[in-house]
Amino acid sequence: MKRVVVEGGRRLCGEISVGGSKNAALPLLFGGILTGEPCVFTNLPRVSDVLRALEILRAMGAGIYFFANHDVRVDYATVRPVMPPASLTASIRGSTYLLGAMLGRFGRAYLAGAGGCDFGNRPIDQHLAGFARLGAAVREGEEITLEAPCGLCGAEITLAMPSVGATANLMLACACATGESIIRNAAAEPHVAALADFLRAAGANIEGVGTDTVRIAGVPSLHGVTHRIIPDMIEAGTYLCAGVACGGPVCVRDVLPSHLGALLDAFLQMGASVAVEGESITVSSAQSYRNITVETGPYPAFPTDLHPQMTALFSLGNRAKGVGIVRERIWASRFRYVEGLRELGAEILVEGDTATVTPVHLHGGSVASPDLRSGAALLLAALATKGRTEITAAHTIARGYEHLGEKLRALGADVRIL
Ligand code: EPU
Repeated sequence: MKRVVVEGGRRLCGEISVGGSKNAALPLLFGGILTGEPCVFTNLPRVSDVLRALEILRAMGAGIYFFANHDVRVDYATVRPVMPPASLTASIRGSTYLLGAMLGRFGRAYLAGAGGCDFGNRPIDQHLAGFARLGAAVREGEEITLEAPCGLCGAEITLAMPSVGATANLMLACACATGESIIRNAAAEPHVAALADFLRAAGANIEGVGTDTVRIAGVPSLHGVTHRIIPDMIEAGTYLCAGVACGGPVCVRDVLPSHLGALLDAFLQMGASVAVEGESITVSSAQSYRNITVETGPYPAFPTDLHPQMTALFSLGNRAKGVGIVRERIWASRFRYVEGLRELGAEILVEGDTATVTPVHLHGGSVASPDLRSGAALLLAALATKGRTEITAAHTIARGYEHLGEKLRALGADVRIL
């Protein structure tokens, strides 16, 4: 995906389904290393970050067999404790999950770089401090080397913040450690709970997931399982934002509505209509909606991965009324999309962690997507604005949205993916 070209200003309505969650799939794919056996993952999203994770596993010796479009069998028996090429690992953040999984299975792990979207500094000090608490020797330079030749010993670990990555990585490392581990100030995101479900199905003993204290009683080994990836709440949220921005009704199917409580509350405050039925959510908005204040935070607060999309909604002068405020409490620097929205005419003032958005009429243009959710925000603005908008560097959007063009066209959008 290089460019997305949108002829915007059309009402969007109809039904689409969401795929499996990227951020749930990544720790599961690497977590499977712990089993040393074949695992089957169904509902696997074929987005570029996930395909990259499979390439990394293949480079480490895993056998990868797709037997249906979204169903894959990964044979972990042949994985070797090697350092995968930095050219692969440096492009996704999920490659950090190799550390906990390799350490847990082989007592050693190597990583030459982890990437992901650029939000300024993305330290993994909490992951590494946790591994050290479990008894691993940690060396950090150009490469990260972890060694625990006598195995890991359970420990009590208190995270400085409820980091998704650190919680998941430490759950992986603790699953087969000797004795009990406790992770305090743990993240409670649905994808962390999904990892616990997978590990439990594989034989691990984990309790307390979904709360801030996770207890893990180490077991000697795990076994292969078949596991279905949970629906992608951020993909779902993005299409629901499109429904509100472009009128709707838009029905998003195959979603777990309980994961999106904060977004649906925000829509209701804005005056949009929200209907939840089983695993479907339908949204629509009349002529206009009210702008509000949203503040991101760890689950169940408003998800940071939907913040850029909300700013886009707040900036639309043809729909939004009043000043909108977005406070970003997770990432130090997640406003890279603002420049692109401004190029489309938006009036957004960023001071520290807060964006103040005054809705004005936007226009089409050509803008580059700086990262995944920024691209989604630019796309929403383009869809809701009359005129032609071209979004370049669209490979960033392909990291997390599969069949983007088909889904948007099913809702009536005039979108071409080049
Ligand atoms: N942090 C530290 N030290 C650490 C770990 C995290 O200081 O050792 C800080 C981070 O700098 C950040 C905060 O803690 O300020 C939260 O980071 P977290 O570890 O929770 O984020 P992550 O695991 O790196 C995942 C998602 C992100 C999502 C965040 C927050 C994946 C692959 N990535 O990142 O998703 O924004 O959790 O929910 O799961 C996206 O999908 O667009 C995306 C960026």
